[in-house]
Amino acid sequence: MSNLKEIANQMVVKGKGILAADESSGTIKKRFDSINVDSNEENRRNYRETLFRSTDAMENYISGVILFDETIRQKSKDGTPLAEVISKSGSLPGIKVDTGAKDLALNNSEKITEGLDGLRERLQEYYQLGAKFAKWRSVITVSKDIPSELCIHSNAHALARYAALCQENDIVPIVEPEVLMDGDHDINRCSEVTKLTLDRVFKELVAHGVDLKGICLKPNMVINGSLSKTKSSPEEIASKTTSCFQEVVPDSVPGIVFLSGGQTEIEATENLNAMNRIGEFPWNLSFSYGRALQASALKAWNGKESNERLSSKAFSHRAKMNSLATLGQWSQDKEV
Ligand code: 13P
Repeated sequence: MSNLKEIANQMVVKGKGILAADESSGTIKKRFDSINVDSNEENRRNYRETLFRSTDAMENYISGVILFDETIRQKSKDGTPLAEVISKSGSLPGIKVDTGAKDLALNNSEKITEGLDGLRERLQEYYQLGAKFAKWRSVITVSKDIPSELCIHSNAHALARYAALCQENDIVPIVEPEVLMDGDHDINRCSEVTKLTLDRVFKELVAHGVDLKGICLKPNMVINGSLSKTKSSPEEIASKTTSCFQEVVPDSVPGIVFLSGGQTEIEATENLNAMNRIGEFPWNLSFSYGRALQASALKAWNGKESNERLSSKAFSHRAKMNSLATLGQWSQDKEV
């Protein structure tokens, strides 16, 4: 267990955060479609290798990278396994192990995340391939009548079974219950659903014997729905998010790494910064962004080898801005 604690602490060390580069085949295709680039294996490798070879970002600001199954098996252009490129930079390779959020049976509006069958054996293989941590994402949809107790319970139960299997196999689980931003709900409704979800998740983790010192929590921020008419200030988001966590996240959890969930790059940085400006919490508050770390880098890359340096620069800049946000030291004038 001491190894798990060490890895978890390394993942949330002050000033660093996690790059989520584990987009599934469908999601990365969507991202590539937005820049009119074909989503084939070579392009996916080239784009991701550009990120992982961004020395400034990887050595100074990125504690770990979440990979997709294809990527952890891929080699860089010079033949080095991509997982090794990451570990050589001093960062930790991790792996997404869920197989996606599917419709809950007999329910057409809520999701259950699948992937438990054969997970023990898959974790053992991923460990051999260099994975130090894993990720499982549950999705909680909000509208007037949902989430249902059944949806929250089923997802919390699956997250706990996943987390226990990870720890059994010396892999730190990132526990990600995402309350979606989609919808017109307001920030208070998001707070209520997030609190209920996290409460259930921690009850299940404890019931399954998971050591909370050897996990990372990856939640949403408490924020207005994307179709809500109101927009809260970073200070309100920071205050409601941290108050919610103080009620339900045990102090023994070493760190909380947020997903960006559809926020813009600047919003995600600004909101994280506002939280860390409030002061010290029992857990480090950092980032595990996908879109909010990659949007500018993806655009700069645009499918061309000649743009790799520009893309790397854009990624390093965002990583640095978010690093400052983990210390509460970011400000708009640092963006230029
Ligand atoms: P976003 O930051 O783009 O929400 O992605 C993070 C992630 O890993 C979602 O599972």
